[in-house]
Amino acid sequence: MKKVVVLTGAGISAESGIKTFRDSGGLWEEHRVEDVATYDAWERNQALVLEFYNQRRKQLYECSPNAAHYALAELEKKYDVQIITQNVDDLHEQAGSTKVLHLHGELKKARSTIDDELIYDIEGWELKKGDKCEKGSQLRPHIVWFGEAVPNIVPAAQLSSKADIYLVIGTSLNVYPAAGLLNYVPNNVPKYLVDPNGSGVSGISNLTIIKEKAGKGVSQLVKKLLE
Ligand code: OAD
Repeated sequence: MKKVVVLTGAGISAESGIKTFRDSGGLWEEHRVEDVATYDAWERNQALVLEFYNQRRKQLYECSPNAAHYALAELEKKYDVQIITQNVDDLHEQAGSTKVLHLHGELKKARSTIDDELIYDIEGWELKKGDKCEKGSQLRPHIVWFGEAVPNIVPAAQLSSKADIYLVIGTSLNVYPAAGLLNYVPNNVPKYLVDPNGSGVSGISNLTIIKEKAGKGVSQLVKKLLE
């Protein structure tokens, strides 16, 4: 089976009702990264950081996968599909994709602040002050904050180097190391970018840019790959 590796970003979930970060009206216009998405912010004001991610989680429970998520799940009929996502939502999993690697963490999970190995499912939408791990430390959102290491970048780079076909969907490719993954994909591998903006990449060989929203663009591309 040919291996399709798919790098996704916030744009794939936009049509599900989840805001992107850098588009006009995006999340980083309303909130400063330094206030809610760094370890310093957490040390300064845990309540604010918990509330920011609680609101994101609450909203996620009101959203469903869209046509793009479902199309990628369907692609598994004919290909070995590996998704690498920068998203912290679980819409790929909800749509039925079986191999999903999260680069920036998972919104529905919490992690111990003294032992990175202790990761828990959050029941419901709220993580509160006083919610503790089994070793007694406060739980934090299981999110990779700015300035923190991205442990899954190593397997993500290995997967990217083994792709037979590479798809990039709905990401501005602004945030490293994720944005550098395309450099691991061999030159001769066909690559497709689906993004209505489509300007995030340059100097990449064998690249087809599809300037469409994910719902339409990914559905059409998957149909073509399944033919
Ligand atoms: P951005 O908000 O930077 O980029 C969103 C991309 O989605 C843009 O290129 C848009 O053109 C595109 N887009 C918008 N609507 C779309 C649609 N309907 N279909 C397809 N594409 C659409 O989001 P990311 O690139 O995912 O990290 O951001 C990367 C990381 O920065 C995030 O994972 C997050 C953020 O800060 C952390 O919080 C650690």
